Amino acid sequence: MQDIIEQLEARRDEARLGGGQRRIDAQHGRGKLTARERIDLLLDETSFEEFDMFVQHRCTDFGMETQTTPGDGVVTGWGTVNGRTVYVFAKDFTVFGGSLSETHAQKIMKIQDMALRNRAPIIGIFDAGGARIQEGVAALGGYGEVFYRNVMASGVIPQISVIMGPCAGGDVYSPAMTDFIFMVKDTSYMFVTGPDVVKTVTNETVTAEELGGASVHATKSSIADKAYENDVEALLQMRRLVDFLPSSNIAPVPEMPSFDDPGRVEPSLDTLVPDNPNQPYDMYELISKVVDEGDFFEIQEAHAKNIITGFGRVEGKTVDVIANQPMVLAGVLDSDASRKAARFVRFCDCFEIPLLTFVDVPGFLPGTDQEYGGLIKHGAKLLFAYSEATVPKVTVITRKAYGGAYDVMSSKHIGGDINYAWPSAEIAVMGAKGAVEIIFRKDIGDAEKIAAHTESYEDRFCSPFVAAERGYIDEVILPRNTRWRIARAFNMLANKTMENPWKKHDNIPL
Ligand code: HXC
Repeated sequence: MQDIIEQLEARRDEARLGGGQRRIDAQHGRGKLTARERIDLLLDETSFEEFDMFVQHRCTDFGMETQTTPGDGVVTGWGTVNGRTVYVFAKDFTVFGGSLSETHAQKIMKIQDMALRNRAPIIGIFDAGGARIQEGVAALGGYGEVFYRNVMASGVIPQISVIMGPCAGGDVYSPAMTDFIFMVKDTSYMFVTGPDVVKTVTNETVTAEELGGASVHATKSSIADKAYENDVEALLQMRRLVDFLPSSNIAPVPEMPSFDDPGRVEPSLDTLVPDNPNQPYDMYELISKVVDEGDFFEIQEAHAKNIITGFGRVEGKTVDVIANQPMVLAGVLDSDASRKAARFVRFCDCFEIPLLTFVDVPGFLPGTDQEYGGLIKHGAKLLFAYSEATVPKVTVITRKAYGGAYDVMSSKHIGGDINYAWPSAEIAVMGAKGAVEIIFRKDIGDAEKIAAHTESYEDRFCSPFVAAERGYIDEVILPRNTRWRIARAFNMLANKTMENPWKKHDNIPL
């Protein structure tokens, strides 16, 4: 028996070395951790149970039969994050550059199947050179099966992708179908085709970083939800994210112990909105003063900054925050902001996480750039997402709620459950200046008359009361009381049950 135990230990040690010490050193030399080091940081200490560490590829082309490494370039298994089960796979760049073979794909599929069957989140860590070139079509088949499982799991369990090295070719589409993609600055990049192919096909000269680095994907393309400084920061932040997420679409939202009094009153919020309606203020201040302990996990913070999306907690339970940001483009809704918020709202509705919306929106952004870019359809995505969401929805209008954007931002008319307004709210079809110029076009040359019209329009319409008189607003609340009002509202809505009409699936304007 002792022999066999020693043999097992020796085989395990060999498998843990992956592609060997030389390649591990090279990995460290690039500022990257190995697959196993990453998993150790992500999961609770000693909680990782590895599967399939002895699996080897079966390829016999190109002399591959003599080049086998136990594990075949991906480390898979399960463990816990603060006690809650998660499934994990991490590409091992030290083995054939983490490339995907038939058996490598089978290991990932096993983990995907287990995560789905047992209803727990799955986290994939990517650092790989795409399809195992020696295996050719077998690798393509493997990718297809992984992709299919991503789609089947979508909306059932949270799927998170962390890009920590190259991620090209076949490797990009699995992350693209997961709920979130996070990247590491300077060491990771994602593209369908690399700089060499780009040069050949389009004659463009770009570096890997310019084409698909974290700086591009977290800002311009919005492929990445956030970029972190290094592997350690990224993995520790993934632990924080998992704490906010339910394990599946039938699991309750996690509840964390909170020492922040839900009845906390914040007098400073009474002066957050400036007297001048054209002066911006920072919506982050409201968010941090409302959520428990100011703890807010932002998604897509570097993209479409005119809208803020992220997770917070109220009374220890996760809520999603969507908020217009008056500091950026006056909080206007443009195509990027609409798409960003729509995707976030849909994620939250899949997983029954209540929606908290803060509104200060002057409307949709005018201009050919936006219209040619499909603003109508992108704006409709957000309208659609809010309308179909059946989770508890609490909305607070802090200042402007103009025009179509008023309807879109979780208004009563599209299913808002509780709609509050601050006394500073201006709920109107448009701002006073625009309205007066249309209604009183004949007086435009007469500054005195225009000023009088503007004043009377502002008195009548730029307030919460016209909407409140119609019941579009449930209550005008004092800013200082926002936190406890929200906490009470979510408590009252805790047993909300609502079902949309049966359908195979909807047809959101893509
Ligand atoms: C087999 C691979 C590999 C691959 C890398 N390696 N990619 N082995 N198949 N796809 C091996 C290398 O031979 C090398 O082995 C080790 O991994 C490290 O690679 P290096 O090139 O030395 O590292 P680096 O300079 O950091 O470059 C990393 C890289 C580059 C940018 C990922 O390796 C690369 O361009 N690889 C090929 C990418 C690619 O074209 N993939 C196929 C995409 S097609 P040794 O033994 O020296 O350590 C595709 C289609 C699927 O994916 C579509 C499905 C929908």
